[in-house]
Amino acid sequence: MIAIGSDHGGYALKGEIIEHLKSRGLEYKDLGTDSEKSTDYPLYGEAVARAVVSGECGLGIIICGTGIGISIAANKVKGARAALCGDCYSAQMAREHNDANILALGARVLGTGLALKIVDAFLDARFQGGHHTHRVEMFKAIEAKD
Ligand code: RB5
Repeated sequence: MIAIGSDHGGYALKGEIIEHLKSRGLEYKDLGTDSEKSTDYPLYGEAVARAVVSGECGLGIIICGTGIGISIAANKVKGARAALCGDCYSAQMAREHNDANILALGARVLGTGLALKIVDAFLDARFQGGHHTHRVEMFKAIEAKD
């Protein structure tokens, strides 16, 4: 199950991504927003992050105008590893090396075609483990200091 959420700036792209997930036969949980009416991106970054960190959803996708605000919000939730990606290589590496569990996208930055390719690169990659595990564990050590 993939959690997906956006603010108004990402609403249209969220719809395109949902259609893409459906075409791939993937299940999703849409956590809003539900229109292009102005709203606050932290709401949706937090909601998706909590759905992922709780284990309800395996991965998350979050979208706002730039992807910046919503990724900052998601990363405030302990256990969230949201990666803002503007290219396929970064999306693949975010999973393989950083064990990112949330993909953040900027709808006003990316065309739909590229955004969908980035989604595929993220979903199709797997964490490689090995020496990367120690570094991901260090994220938890940082969280434990607060
Ligand atoms: C909303 O206008 C915009 O600020 C938001 O979508 C996002 O880009 C914030 O980081």
